[in-house]
Formats: sequence, C-alpha cells, structure tokens
Amino acid sequence: MSETPANRAERLRTELNRHNYLYYVKATPEISDREFDARLKELADLEKAHPELVTPDSPTQRVGSELLGEFATHPHRLPMLSMDNTYSEADLREFDARVKKLLEGRSYRYVVELKIDGTAISLWYEDGRFVRGLTRGDGKVGEDITANLRTVRQIPLAIPVAGSARNPQPATRNQSVPPVLEVRGECYFSRRQFGRINEEREAAGLALFANPRNAAAGSLKQLDPKEVAKRNLGAFIYALGHTEGYAPAEHQQVMRDLAAWGFHVEPHWEVCADIDAVWAYAEKWAEKRKGLDYDTDGLVVKVDSLAQREALGTTAKIPRWAIAYKYQPEQAETKLLAVEVQVGMTGVLSPVGKVEPVHLSGTTVRSVTLHNQDEIDRKDIRIGDVVVLEKAGEIIPQVVRVVTGKRSGREQKFRLPEECPVCKSPARRAEGEVAVRCTNSGCPARLRARLLHFSGRAQMDIEGLGPALVDGLLEAKLIGDVADLYAIKLEQIAGLERQGQKSAENAVAAIAKSKGAGLARLLAGLGIPGVGTAAAEALAGHFGDLDRLMAASAEQIEEVEDMGPVTSAAAAEYFRNAANREVLEKLRRAGVDFRHHGAARQEHPGFAGKTFVVTGTLQKYKRNEIEALIKSLGGKVSGSVSKKTDFVVAGEEAGSKLEKARSLGVKVLSEGDFEALRGGETA
Ligand code: IVH
Repeated sequence: MSETPANRAERLRTELNRHNYLYYVKATPEISDREFDARLKELADLEKAHPELVTPDSPTQRVGSELLGEFATHPHRLPMLSMDNTYSEADLREFDARVKKLLEGRSYRYVVELKIDGTAISLWYEDGRFVRGLTRGDGKVGEDITANLRTVRQIPLAIPVAGSARNPQPATRNQSVPPVLEVRGECYFSRRQFGRINEEREAAGLALFANPRNAAAGSLKQLDPKEVAKRNLGAFIYALGHTEGYAPAEHQQVMRDLAAWGFHVEPHWEVCADIDAVWAYAEKWAEKRKGLDYDTDGLVVKVDSLAQREALGTTAKIPRWAIAYKYQPEQAETKLLAVEVQVGMTGVLSPVGKVEPVHLSGTTVRSVTLHNQDEIDRKDIRIGDVVVLEKAGEIIPQVVRVVTGKRSGREQKFRLPEECPVCKSPARRAEGEVAVRCTNSGCPARLRARLLHFSGRAQMDIEGLGPALVDGLLEAKLIGDVADLYAIKLEQIAGLERQGQKSAENAVAAIAKSKGAGLARLLAGLGIPGVGTAAAEALAGHFGDLDRLMAASAEQIEEVEDMGPVTSAAAAEYFRNAANREVLEKLRRAGVDFRHHGAARQEHPGFAGKTFVVTGTLQKYKRNEIEALIKSLGGKVSGSVSKKTDFVVAGEEAGSKLEKARSLGVKVLSEGDFEALRGGETA
C-alpha cells in the first residue's frame, strides 16, 4: 500500500528532526547536506500541496516568514534566579562550609559544569513539542522570543513524548519525556560564528559586537527571525524549570535525561564528591577551556540532590545550593598612546587605540578596537590613560576599563572628528546608529578599504596586493575602482617607489590569477553590506552566475537560505546602483569569471573530502580566512575533533582540541605543515 501524504509528511518530519539532532547536537551526521536538503524540500512541497499537514514542530517551520512587531511578555512559572559569583578558592570553600552547616552533617555531592558565557533562556514543551521560549527578563517576566528560538538548530522542536516510538535519539533511555517540561539553558555564539558575524557587520558598516555574550543577547532581540536564523546561534541546556510528571532525585540524572531527550548538554560536567574535587576541576579547566569553540567564563557548582536543594532553599534572588566560580580573564595593563580614526569600506569612522605593546593571551597587542564614540564615553577612555585590556572571545583585544587611579591629569578626551580624516567631507551619525560615517561615497579611504578587502585571502586572494602596493597605486592615481586593478601594467607597478621588478611580476600574476576565483569569492570581495563569505557562498550556489543575481529582486534574493530581508534589500540595491553596475561591467570585460564553480573547482588532492579543525591562534591567517581557504580547496571545516577529523591545524595556545586530536591519533598540522600541504607536499 502506498503511503498517504499525511504519513509521508509525518515520517519526513521525524527523520529530519533526527538528522537535525545528529548534525547540530551530536555532530555525527549520517546523511549528506544534499540528502537532508532533498528531504526537506520534499516535505516543504508536500506541505505546500496540503497546508493542513503543517505542524509547529515541522523542520520547515524553523524560520517563519512573519516579522515580529515587538516581543510580548510572559511570566515565568518559576522565577529565573541569578547566582552569586566568586573569584577565589577561599570563597568557594566558604560556600561549601555554608552548605555543610545548613545540611547538618548529612553527606552531599556536587555537580560541576562549565559556565557558558551567553544569555539565559527558558524553553517550554508540552507533550514533547516546543511551544514557547522566553528570555530571562527581570527574572519574573520574560520576553516571548519563540519565533527566534525556533531558528536555533540545537533546540529540538519535538522531543519524544512518553511511550512514543518517534524517538529521535537511538540511544537507550530510561526516562520518558514529561508531558509538561520547562528547561533552562544558555543561548550562545561559538567563537567561529562570532568571528563570522562580526566580519559581516564590519562589511555592513555596523558596530561590532564586543563579545559573544552581547552578540547572543542582541541576536535574540532581533525582530526578524530570518536574520536570527542567519546567525547560527547555539543553545546548551543545563537545568529544569517547571515540570509535571517527572521527579528525578538528582541533578546528574537530569543532565543525563536532558541529553537523552535530544537537548544539547555541555558534555564536560562532572560529579564531585567534595569541594576538593570541585577545586581540582576548576584548576583542570582554567587553561583547557580556551581550546573550546565557545566562551566559558567559569564554572557553576550545584548541589546534586534535589531534595537537599529544597532543604537549602533560596534567598530573595539566589539559590543557596549553587554558586558560580569565575575565572579571572587574562588581562594586561598598558598605556593608550593615541587614537587613530580608520575609514572603512562603507565610510564608517572607527576609533582604533594605539597602545604600548603588551603581551596578552599569546600575542603582542599594539592596537585595540575602541568600537565607537558611545563605548569610549561609557568607559571614559582618554588618550594617555593606563587601560586594562582583555581579549573578547579570546581573540579581539579591547579595553575593559581605565585605571583612573593612575591618571596624571594630562589625559585627553577623544571625540570622533566631524569631518572625514581623509577627504574632509562632513561625517554624520545616522538616526539610531552608533556609527559615524563619511558622507562622501567617493572618499579615497573607502576605495582603499575596498581594495584591501577585495584582495583579502577570504575574497579574491590576491597575494602581494597589501597596504603598501594599494597606497602606491592610489597615490599614482592608477586606480579608481576595483576593476582598474585588472588594467594595470607590469611597468606601472615596477615604476612605483619601493616596488622591485620581482614583486611587481608576482603582483601582476596574482591579479591575473584572481580572475578565475569564481562568483562566491567575487561577491564576498565586493563589500556588499551584510554579504560576507557565508552569504556570498549561499548566493553564488543559488544563482549560479552573476547575471542571474543582478536581475533578481530583493524578494527573490530573500528566498536564498539564510538571507534575511535587510541583507537581501541591500544586495538588490547594490546591483541596481548604476556606478556599481559599471564597475561590474568593467570586471566582466577584464575577463573576471562571473560563474559559480561550486566547491569542487579548485579541488586540491590534499584537501578534497578531508575534514579540518582549526584551533589556536595562527600567524598568517584569521580564522575565517583559513576556513574559507580550506573550503575553496575542497575540504570541510568542523568545529570539533572526532575520529572523523582528518587534520587539526593548531596555532599558538591550542588547547583541548589539540589534546583530543592527539588522544584520537588525528594528524596535527602546524601552520607551516598546512602551508606545505597547500603547496602540494604531502604532510
Ligand atoms: S544554572 C539558579 N548552569 O550563568 C541558577 N547557569 O551567573 C541557575 N549559566 O543566569 C542557573 N552556564 O545564565 C547554570 N551550567 C550553567 C550555566 C549557567 C551559564 C548562566 C545563567 C545564569 C548565570 C548566572
């Protein structure tokens, strides 16, 4: 008997939810992306033909098309408490002494977890279906961000209901899902996604997020779920809220059940027999945590027995049975010598602090981002100040505070200029934006930034076309737009000051070679607001060649997976603009390839089909650059090391991923080995 549409839809939903779980939670996919997409499309087609078959837990419903007006509020059934923070071993032991006293000599255990640096969420399930997601709000009332949380692939839309055969999780499980289940956890950005999103914001001239936590909180407050979907947020679940029909005795049981039901649970939690074991855990993870792909700012110590928690109770705001121990982030003090104003591709004026060189978390820091005028004012940062630096997401150095006690009185306040430092046109701050922009679209600083971006490794990858050569070309008035690069003659470069014949030859060859980079890299290189490497790849894959994309409306662009309305409109506008079209026509005449080649084009035998994990700080590449390079050579990039990983590329300060690679016998490449592999030698 052939399947009815209803049965088929049901089966596809279950299968897709399971594969979603295997991919996003377990990181052990069983089918290819292509197969997944084919089944998703089949389900979407079925639902289109039979709209009555759409269910809220259908994987097609992760991104609804509705724009939210504003967020409704919803009370928390149980208050969402906060926690006491401690910073020392002594404080931790004091907490333990209080617990011991209150429990009057009864024995107790702790569960210790890594503290995820994200933003707290509450998820409500009825009969195993996700029905509501809230922010913490003020702890009593949260904001309803259900539509946004649906887009988070690590959040299951459906978990198996009691006694159901529709279990997405093949592992054994002894606890059925309660009919009413509220879980709590943390929405977060992986370091990789955080880097990517800031890269895209930079391209769009938007203020950068200072750290993954702000980025996660900010993203969940977006009114457009499609924009949220683009950001690839993650979610770890670590606690119960209100439940009915579930009475576990211990938190360790809760953690196991949560994982068995398909929630994403941070795997490094441990049961500790006493506070000494807790402290040993804290010491073990002080360094190790730096190798994780997400930010952890400490640990959370929780009494294991739920009955004992009940007995210990809570104060007005915080439970007596839990405490957060925070690691002191590595910091360095240095002096702010000057503030330079850089003008970006879209004319945004960015204040960059020049500091006395100082060593911090593995690198020497010479300049720090000061974000924007609001941030400078908020922290009251003045030139000449002694400042404390920290790395956001272990990557971007920034000022956390000023040591005001060390002021001499000669420090100077800083204000972004009211005119562009390069072209002297007025600089303005648009309504509702933090960024101040140069109003001259022909500003030479924009052109300089555009050229450098165009030639970057993750874009057209033109080796040798760095700041020195770009400045030389601009001074000699040899280029007015990116397309002019392709008309430059060898003699013109060789004739510039400080350019030798050999380097000129290399530059000309690199420029010529970039004509074949393909549509994805070209799109990433154009500097279309919001279109970074990921969006560029999606657009190239969807449209196949530039002419089709140029002819598309904003609505048609929005049909591309993960393209939100803002970026889609910006892209459509970019291609409607006459000046941009002229540059593109020049690129075409110069022979730049407008077609998409897919991943296979530049396939490199050392990379094709191989899975890479990149960890630690590299000298030559930014994280997104090396990842784009690996993909362009036919390799795959993953965030975590497993037996299926072929290579781990380890830079400075590589942590637990490197350890894991060694323990699994996965081949580890230094940056030099990587270059050698790329160059064709076998590693
Ligand atoms: S348990 C009563 N476990 O840290 C507290 N919280 O500083 C229940 N957090 O509001 C929370 N990782 O947003 C718990 N493994 C973890 C956590 C965690 C991060 C956050 C959470 C909480 C904040 C307190």
